[in-house]
Amino acid sequence: DAPETLKPRAPVVTIMGHVDHGKTSLLDALRGTDVVAGESGGITQHIGAYQVTTKKGDVITFLDTPGHEAFSEMRARGANVTDIVILVVAADDGLMPQTIEAINHTKAAGVPMIVAINKCDKPEANPQKVRERLLSEEIVVEDMGGDVQDVEVSALKKTGLDELIDKILLQAEVMELTANPDRQAEGNVIEAQLDKGRGAVATVLVRKGTLKVGDTFVIGAESGKVRALVNDKGQNVKVAGPSTPVEVLGLSGVPLAGDQLTVVENEARAREVAAYRQEQ
Ligand code: GTP
Ligand code: NA
Ligand code: MG
Repeated sequence: DAPETLKPRAPVVTIMGHVDHGKTSLLDALRGTDVVAGESGGITQHIGAYQVTTKKGDVITFLDTPGHEAFSEMRARGANVTDIVILVVAADDGLMPQTIEAINHTKAAGVPMIVAINKCDKPEANPQKVRERLLSEEIVVEDMGGDVQDVEVSALKKTGLDELIDKILLQAEVMELTANPDRQAEGNVIEAQLDKGRGAVATVLVRKGTLKVGDTFVIGAESGKVRALVNDKGQNVKVAGPSTPVEVLGLSGVPLAGDQLTVVENEARAREVAAYRQEQ
């Protein structure tokens, strides 16, 4: 085989932390402040995956995760499909059970972490206490002489956001993230559901290659042909490249979150791969 041509790709950043520590608010704030004019509105809320374009033109893919204790598996998956984890810790509440759990998922996945200490606008906020408490989880932030980046933010007052973006981009730069866009796509299902009118829909994060309308694929143990692709702004698109989250229509059934999507040459091959996966 000819060597693959790797090209730079956007970092995939998963937001994790305890319930109500402000993960979604922080993402909303980042979209509102850092997306270029015109891109801030019209983002489909139920997709927990979307891209923002920073003022300097860099693209970052964000995955939101729930903080409720029931969703441990979702957090584990989030840590496994990501390049970087943003650990959100509310400065008034401090480290809580799902904060610790998110730290453990992140460590297990071997993914670098950036700590966003949120709700710093609150009078009872104590960011220094958060940094100190992180030490007992063996997370040593820069201020404490370690190498984990941390930033004080307020999703409510929209402070610290540029600094957070800079730290993400700095971390991503060190990682030299690349993928070959010129091959058959591979990706992971972020979430999937049966949609009234549209049928089975999966939100897929494309990892390698470029997913195209008309592609034949296997997703989990189901096969299908891409009928339509819908981006995070609700727009129909013809293609989705590496690090892009996209809704895929044309599935024969609802796959499971975490399932792998693999594009194959033809339907015969799709049946073969699907049958093989069913045996696993
Ligand atoms: P789950 O997804 O349910 O785990 O919650 P979450 O982490 O996404 O938190 P969410 O964004 O839903 O925010 C929870 C509450 O905290 C909301 O009432 C927010 O308005 C509030 N909140 C979020 N960020 C801030 C902040 O920076 N300052 C203050 N004062 N309140 C905040
Ligand atoms: Na919440
Ligand atoms: Mg949330």
